[in-house]
Parts: sequence; C-alpha cells; structure tokens
Amino acid sequence: MDLKLDNKRVLMTGATGGIGREICKAFLMENAKIFNFYRERNKMESLVSWLNDQGISTDKLHGCSVNLSDQDSVEDGFKKMMSEFGGIDIYVNVVGKAVESPFLLGNSDDWEKAQEINLKPAVLLSRLVIKPMMLARSGSIVFISSIVAWRFGRGVVPYATAKAALNRFAETLAFEVGQKGIRVNLVCPGMIDTKMAESIKQKHSDFLEYHSALGRIGKPKEIAPAVLFLASDATSSYMTGQKIVVDGGVSL
Ligand SMILES: NC(=O)c1ccc[n+]([C@@H]2O[C@H](COP(=O)([O-])OP(=O)(O)OC[C@H]3O[C@@H](n4cnc5c(N)ncnc54)[C@H](OP(=O)(O)O)[C@@H]3O)[C@@H](O)[C@H]2O)c1
Repeated sequence: MDLKLDNKRVLMTGATGGIGREICKAFLMENAKIFNFYRERNKMESLVSWLNDQGISTDKLHGCSVNLSDQDSVEDGFKKMMSEFGGIDIYVNVVGKAVESPFLLGNSDDWEKAQEINLKPAVLLSRLVIKPMMLARSGSIVFISSIVAWRFGRGVVPYATAKAALNRFAETLAFEVGQKGIRVNLVCPGMIDTKMAESIKQKHSDFLEYHSALGRIGKPKEIAPAVLFLASDATSSYMTGQKIVVDGGVSL
C-alpha cells in the first residue's frame, strides 16, 4: 500500500535512539523528509552512518541541536526547520527516558526530570507545530508513550505519571484541534530492546517474557510501522485521539 509519505515534511525528536532511528529509517524509505532535533552532534552523525551502512540515503535527513526542555532553544530549532522545509506535515515525538526511582526513596528532582523529558518537549513543540498545521488545515502528530501510562510501573512512578499525562494531553489536544484538520495519536510500546530498557530487561526479563502473549521482548523496528500508519492520511485519516499498543500482549 502506498502510504503517500513522499516528500512529507516530518519533524522528529529522539531519532538518534533505538526506537527513533528505526522510525527515521522507515520514513526515509518512504521518501519523506526528516528534520530531527538532536542533543549531541556525534549521535546524529552515528545515525547517518547507521543509515548509510544499510544503503539508506540520508539526503533528506536534516536536523539541528536543540535543548528540548528550553523554550527558546525549541523555538530557534523550529524556526530553522521551517525555513529549511517551508512547512510541516507530520510531527513525531519519540524523545523520552525511564527515570527509575522507587517513590519513597525519590525526591522532587525525579519528578522534574521525568516531566522535562517525557512531557515538556511534546507540549512545547505541539504549541509550535499546530499553528502552521492549522493554516494548512492538515497535519498529523504522533507521540511515543508507553504501556506504563496505565499498566505495570513498579519503581517508575514519575516516568509512568509523565507518560499518563502525555496520553491525556494527546487525547484532549486531539479534541481541540480535530476540526482544524489535525490528528493527534499515540503509540504505546511495551518492553523494547533498546539502551533505555537495558537495566529493566536485566532485572525483569523472565517476568516480561512470561507475561508477553508472544513470549518475548519487542525489537525496536517493530514500533515504526504503527507510527507510519498513524502519521499517514492514506491509512488513518479517520483516527484521532487513539493509542496503538505495540507490546506483544504484555498489557493484556
Ligand atoms: N525501550 C522501551 O522498552 C520503551 C518502552 C515504552 C516506551 N518507550 C519510549 O520510547 C521512546 C524511545 O525510547 P528508546 O527505547 O528508543 O530509548 P533510547 O534508545 O534511550 O532513545 C531515547 C531518545 O531520547 C533522547 N533523549 C533522552 N534523554 C534526552 C534529553 N534529556 N534531552 C534530549 N534528548 C534526550 C535520546 O537522545 P541521545 O541519543 O542523545 O541519547 C534518544 O534519541 C521513549 O519515549 C520511551 O519512553 C520505550
């Protein structure tokens, strides 16, 4: 099926990470244009090498360094993106980090850290991307959340709370901007084999494999198809405010 993503202008965060790079690769393979907000140039260079090693052209991959918790830095990055691409069709927010912190041993820093990276970039960037999308009366936003927003979550209360807030943010935002032609959806992964999940995997892999209907942890490339499905009007034009759960049946 043609996803009709040819030359679509995609703003991404987190394309340098395990799940993000597979999403980036999938969009490039559909001939979309990506602008990624990265924090370290060397990580962006590694992403380019990783793609080129697989024969994927990176001519359509652009980006700049942005501090995603800082409004001015996000606004500067967005201006650069708009001047290079001349507009935006799709925004995919992947950035996130599981802050492991047993509640009674934690402090307010854990809450701030969890919100800063799992919620704040989505809020700051949504405010910016929605304006040009409203003018175009078209746009698709996809947030990467997590099944911990409503299931499991021992030792990750601040992270789970931030992801739950992200889910409700997406749902209510979808209602507010739907009549302007903008769709807002979520992809909620279960345990996926990336750097972020390493320590949880070491501690709980037996438990997770046992609870997964498919009996295994997920691969990063298994998230991208759900993101492209929600990003594309060709496949999901009548879907908004929804979440696709990609967890091998862990949350059943
Ligand atoms: N892996 C899982 O089991 C799992 C499960 C459910 C949900 N998720 C969600 O999936 C998304 C991607 O996670 P992943 O597993 O791919 O993790 P990852 O490999 O660690 O990638 C995380 C991405 O976020 C960026 N990032 C992290 N902290 C940042 C900060 N303070 N400022 C700017 N960028 C920052 C990283 O940038 P650098 O490359 O510079 O480090 C990287 O691009 C996250 O939202 C995560 O919550 C993951």
